[in-house]
Amino acid sequence: MDLPFHVASHLDSALRASASRLGLNGRGFQPELRVADPAHGDYQANGALAFAKREKQNPRAFAQQLVDALDASIQGQFEVTLAGPGFINFRIKADVLLGWLGRFDSEEHLRTGASSARSGQTWVVDYSSPNTAKQMHVGHLRSAVIGEALCRLLTLNGARVIRDNHLGDWGTQFGKIIYGYKRWADPAALAADPIEELERVYQLGHAATPADSAELDEARVELVKLQAGEAGNVALWKKFSEVSWGAFQEIYDRLGIKFDHVLGESFYNDKVDRVYRELAESGLAEISDGALVVFHSEHPRFKTQPFLVRKADGASNYAATDLATALYRAEHFHADGIAILTDFRQADHFEQLFLTVQKWFAARGYRQPELHHVSFGAVTGEDGKALKTRDGGTIKLKALLDEAVERAFALVTEKSPDLPEAERREIARTVGIGAVQYSDLSQNRSSNYVFSWDKMLALDGNTAPYLLYAVARVHSIFRKAGLDPTHPPLAGATPPETPQELALARRLVQFADAVQSATNQLRPHFLCLYLFELAGAYSAFYAADKVIVDDPAVRARRLLLCHRTLITLETGLHHLGLRTLERM
Ligand code: ARG
Repeated sequence: MDLPFHVASHLDSALRASASRLGLNGRGFQPELRVADPAHGDYQANGALAFAKREKQNPRAFAQQLVDALDASIQGQFEVTLAGPGFINFRIKADVLLGWLGRFDSEEHLRTGASSARSGQTWVVDYSSPNTAKQMHVGHLRSAVIGEALCRLLTLNGARVIRDNHLGDWGTQFGKIIYGYKRWADPAALAADPIEELERVYQLGHAATPADSAELDEARVELVKLQAGEAGNVALWKKFSEVSWGAFQEIYDRLGIKFDHVLGESFYNDKVDRVYRELAESGLAEISDGALVVFHSEHPRFKTQPFLVRKADGASNYAATDLATALYRAEHFHADGIAILTDFRQADHFEQLFLTVQKWFAARGYRQPELHHVSFGAVTGEDGKALKTRDGGTIKLKALLDEAVERAFALVTEKSPDLPEAERREIARTVGIGAVQYSDLSQNRSSNYVFSWDKMLALDGNTAPYLLYAVARVHSIFRKAGLDPTHPPLAGATPPETPQELALARRLVQFADAVQSATNQLRPHFLCLYLFELAGAYSAFYAADKVIVDDPAVRARRLLLCHRTLITLETGLHHLGLRTLERM
């Protein structure tokens, strides 16, 4: 039997079958497979230990029984050894490695092979979601970059992904923007840089309407007119949305992001009444000081701090639209999973939101989607403080991406001064944007993200330039040998033999594990780390073993390793949202 794409799940099933042969069905044996320390094997099953302890058996003897009961094909594919108190190690045999490498030979194969846990599910990913009438700044980077990577990873795992940009396009700020716009908007500036001008009039409007002032009352009147559908203000609001979208679109194009839907807060305006009604009918919500609130009395914090879903003045709020959004996604998109990306400061909001949704859907008998708040830390400078421009302003995302490309251009020019300038500019776009994306993705998203130009543009370390360079290096092998990298001549390849060939082949097999950890935990850094290690294994191989040699069998097997490294690195990077290069 051929070794399937995802080796760990193949071993998982084999060990479960073995346990069942031993008559252990229903006793809760879990194989607990993981990628092993290369000194011991490729995969390790740790589950025998816990099970034997629980059942008061000798762990090592129990592990041996499991091994003895394994299907004979497993013994043919792996060297199986016991270690320590009862760990079972599996090392793929070299000829089986060759067979595996032979079968998975394109990005397409890696894609279909990787699909598993999320296969057939529908996921709504709510990301980027900036507020209109303001430019995107550095704080908007993480949601867009991590969100796009998760969309691609979920797709790689076989899910149908719906990309939904939940724009903040409704709310009290529009009273102030209209107030400022009507007084100070400059038509010339509006034509030249509309979003800049909108931001300016908003700031003026905000400054001119302090708390308890007559001006603030006037701004409120503008808001009431907008909410009541008065034509003039509605037209202004539409204009603000269009202008904002134009500016956002520029950023999305540069990051390679295309949304399926842009259903902002305003879309849910007419859908909140049903939320109030159903929450009240099912006894979840109550009136407190005129507002509609939901208490979660089982929760230590939320039993005294309720979830406010309708303000005392009757206006809807962020919670109300988010509740309506959850229902829409469940009913309209039939979502099996919903992932919403924002920074950690909204953790309480989403915890309360999800508790409310779960109780509400249960009361109504609606199907429950999996709900995830994919939160992330702040972006800071190397001093640990919030990242600011030199004069203390916020860094606009547009300027940041420009700077990344400029810096990458300097790097490329230093490395490859002989390439024509147009090509260096093109490479710089890929490297610069890729560096910004990758340095964000490669860190655990829960931590604060320390933004450092020097680190993200370094040619060694776990960085985009290092990985893109690795890809370009493999391409150059094919180019120099006059071979088509999509269909290199691989016939007659013999199994990997040298330590570096074997180490590289074993790494290649573990792609599926990395994709799975990243997708299951919605944490792209697991895949980044894998790609970095794969590139390292490739470097060691390349340094030790000459590829273009006379012996046709050796040459074919080394070309095979080069080719599989290439498609694995490219597939991985593409599914993180990066573009790759043939030459750098
Ligand atoms: N507009 C919000 C903000 O800028 C993010 C929205 C996230 N999505 C959601 N469904 N609440 O903070």
